[in-house]
Amino acid sequence: MSRQIATFDDLRDAITAYRLPRVLIAALELNLCTAVGTKTWTIPALAREMKVSERGLAILCRNLAMAGLLKKKGEIYRNSRLGATALNAAHPAYRGDYLRLMTSHWADWGRLLESVRSGLPLDHDEPDEPDYRRRFTWAMHHRTLETAPQIAAQLNLGGARTLLDLGGGPGTYAMAFLAKNPQLRATVCDRPAALDVAKEIATTHKAGSRLSYLPLDLLTDRIPGTYDVIWYSNVLHIYSPQDNRAVFQRALAALNPGGRLLIQDAFLHDREGLHPDESSLFAVSMLLFTERGNTYTAAETKAWLTDAGFTRIKIVRMKKGTEDWEDGILEARSPGTPVKTRVRRTQSGNSSRSRSSR
Ligand SMILES: C[S@@+](CC[C@H](N)C(=O)[O-])C[C@H]1O[C@@H](n2cnc3c(N)ncnc32)[C@H](O)[C@@H]1O
Repeated sequence: MSRQIATFDDLRDAITAYRLPRVLIAALELNLCTAVGTKTWTIPALAREMKVSERGLAILCRNLAMAGLLKKKGEIYRNSRLGATALNAAHPAYRGDYLRLMTSHWADWGRLLESVRSGLPLDHDEPDEPDYRRRFTWAMHHRTLETAPQIAAQLNLGGARTLLDLGGGPGTYAMAFLAKNPQLRATVCDRPAALDVAKEIATTHKAGSRLSYLPLDLLTDRIPGTYDVIWYSNVLHIYSPQDNRAVFQRALAALNPGGRLLIQDAFLHDREGLHPDESSLFAVSMLLFTERGNTYTAAETKAWLTDAGFTRIKIVRMKKGTEDWEDGILEARSPGTPVKTRVRRTQSGNSSRSRSSR
């Protein structure tokens, strides 16, 4: 938990914390790390290259070096490792779509009062354009491409053969589960524009041939087929409690007996529903960008799952520092016992798994 604001100095420090984020965002808006690239620069040379003032760039770069994004020796600046890779458009590890999404949020958060007054998202009249959906989906991929394999490494899918990534967007999690579990086939379900991105990404992975695509509106449509695992990651917060209760019912109907629904989200974990801080703050994003979204306590989500008919509901903890959100993932089971995968002896004496009878 972060320090509580008790004194006027605490308040001042909390408010002026906007300064470094604004410096970082200015650097991203200027594409500064791409301009620096793999070379070393004096301020006058870099200012000429970037067509900005020497005075402005000197102060900006000094602060970026103070924060660690640039390295400074005497009058010479170069990129840090992070600057030279994830923030450098010329590098394969560039995470530009997520950087653009975060950068665009600066102006949106400046309009927070509008949403507080109206209770509505900022651009509530804008339809979900395919082009926006495509950019957002790439941003989601750039957001989770390091986290997803870490989560997949820790979640034991217990021999599951089928997984539905519900609201899976780029399918980054589905791909990570496939890479970790060679027996698994996965289906990523989302809007068509998001699935186009998922297909593009899957073609670059060996396990991509085990991924299928299901265009569907998860708020209204029945989920066709049945699965051993349903992965519901970062969707819960977009919708209201009523919406999520209805999704849970449809998810239960699409699970095999004993199958698992795994929910990854910005859960609040304390009794008052205030912490982790990230989860409270994320609700503000939901106010700005969604009609009915919010962040929810793990306890209330468990109650919705119980009402929907799920059993054996528990929190599965991940190692600190590897999580998408602090303090764990919710797991809930469909009633019944999973149909066990039969083990059959081949003539040569090796054991091999037969297809389950599902
Ligand atoms: C925040 S993204 C999460 C993506 C991914 N699951 C992850 O954890 O990174 C939410 C995803 O849910 C999808 N989604 C939201 N509402 C949906 C709906 N009604 N029908 C289908 N997909 C939906 C969005 O298109 C988006 O890809």
